[in-house]
Amino acid sequence: KKTIDDIDVKGKKVLVRVDFNVPLDADRNITDETRIKAALPTIKTLLDRGAAVILCSHLGRPKGEFNMKYSLEPVAKRLKELGLPITFAKDVIGESAKAAVAAVKPGEAVLLENLRFHKEEEKNDPEFAKTLASFADVFVNDAFGTAHRAHASTEGVTHYLPAVAGYLIGKELDVMGKALENPARPFVAVLGGVKVSDKIGVINNLLEMVDTLIIGGAMSYTFQRAKGGKVGNSVVEEDKIELAKELMQKAKDKGVNLVLPVDNEAAQEFKNDTMRITVHSMDIPEGWEGMDIGPETRKIFAREIAKAKTVVWNGPMGVFEFPNFAEGTRAVARAMAEADAVTIIGGGDSAAAVEQLGFADRISHISTGGGASLEFLEGKVLPGVAALNDK
Ligand code: 3PG
Repeated sequence: KKTIDDIDVKGKKVLVRVDFNVPLDADRNITDETRIKAALPTIKTLLDRGAAVILCSHLGRPKGEFNMKYSLEPVAKRLKELGLPITFAKDVIGESAKAAVAAVKPGEAVLLENLRFHKEEEKNDPEFAKTLASFADVFVNDAFGTAHRAHASTEGVTHYLPAVAGYLIGKELDVMGKALENPARPFVAVLGGVKVSDKIGVINNLLEMVDTLIIGGAMSYTFQRAKGGKVGNSVVEEDKIELAKELMQKAKDKGVNLVLPVDNEAAQEFKNDTMRITVHSMDIPEGWEGMDIGPETRKIFAREIAKAKTVVWNGPMGVFEFPNFAEGTRAVARAMAEADAVTIIGGGDSAAAVEQLGFADRISHISTGGGASLEFLEGKVLPGVAALNDK
């Protein structure tokens, strides 16, 4: 794919799709600015090279209507604090946007309001895409986190403008692509999170390439059930038990070492401050719900990760937002930080966990995409990337 290094942007208006879908608290303070920081290399390079930059993004899911709660204004404010010469347009394609786009000079930037205030964005409406495209001479997509969505600002605009990738998309594809295509072995994948159904595609695809697949988190209870275990009140997808059996069989057929928990921390109530017991994973008592992997499992998982030369991790090992049930996720994060391996974290909750636990700078690559990195691990084509026409 062509990147911004392959095109001349001097004196041009460049529409840049970024993923500024950052978490905000009730007072609209940004609580994690990873995605903002990750977009800076592309933005700064374009500004340095004399482009007039028009930034656009979504934030949250406002369902096609203006809603102050989802305004990108706090992001514009933050970019200004970070030293960017930037203005904020109070709408997406209205008077404010048009005036800001007309006024923006080479070396300056404007951030448009939340694209999803228009339902046309997610519908990939051609007229809406055309209007966005009319603001610029060139399109740059650097929104890796949104690359799995074929929306007007990711796919639609590429029908009307020359379209190339930004540095963040380039880096994400490069690092993850290399790890999957030609991994240093042993190649270990660690999957967690709540639902097997969300991860079927990922498990299927990873079973084709990994040496070891570790499964923790709530989805492990469905696998324990498939093995004939008792899981008490733990979350189980009854209709996925058969599938779990098939996946275990596939692991066996492919010679993949499938590692499941041997013990769990269980609780009677879904909250942090409650009594907890350590139980055998195949024998969780009635009335008790698995909330995290147990101490023996933490050791086993860490040992497998220590043996690896490539590790890919997606999904927490327990209810890590409750500190009393964060040990499992912490243990995996620590093992990854200590591993002498290429370590990749596929966005979302596991990325947040690693940041929160302070291990981020010891991980080779933390993806800025949750859903996008999952689809990438599934081996799917990302429409936002496929659409880049390299003209
Ligand atoms: C994300 O946070 O995963 C991306 O910004 C995409 O958001 P979406 O799931 O609302 O499309």
